[in-house]
Amino acid sequence: MERTFAIIKPDAFAAGSAGKIIARIYAEGFKIVGLKKLYMSKVEAEGFYYVHKERPFFGELTEFMSSGPCVVIVLEADNAILKWRDLMGATNPADAAEGTLRREFGSNIGENATHGSDAPETAAFEISYFFSGLELL
Ligand code: RTP
Ligand code: MG
Repeated sequence: MERTFAIIKPDAFAAGSAGKIIARIYAEGFKIVGLKKLYMSKVEAEGFYYVHKERPFFGELTEFMSSGPCVVIVLEADNAILKWRDLMGATNPADAAEGTLRREFGSNIGENATHGSDAPETAAFEISYFFSGLELL
């Protein structure tokens, strides 16, 4: 069993899509190990996305992630990291396959509904950024 970290981003939360996305998470066979709603500050979003700090979209990305509440989730499944990225689809919803979350709930490359860790090391960092051990029992 592997764990990964997911976010229902502010666009999807504001659109009222959190329930549908969570239903899809269960339907695809993930276990939800941790889940909470939070409203990130700009500084918290910058800390979360520090790997992108040199990228041209860093300001836009952290503005967006701190623009409203989101839902942070720890998922568990066999091959959870790849499985969740497959379910999300391509970063740009316009390129995401039919049936993926970003295709269904995303609007554009910035406002793309969901986040997922891209490797075991990033999953470990991202889980510990938002959750304590006690919240994952
Ligand atoms: P994520 O980290 O959110 O799961 O997305 P990802 O791995 O598919 O994409 P990544 O390259 O890590 O980019 C992180 C987020 O930054 C925004 N982005 N904007 N304007 C742009 O060109 C651009 N490129 C990326 C997206 O919200 C992307 O999810
Ligand atoms: Mg990424």
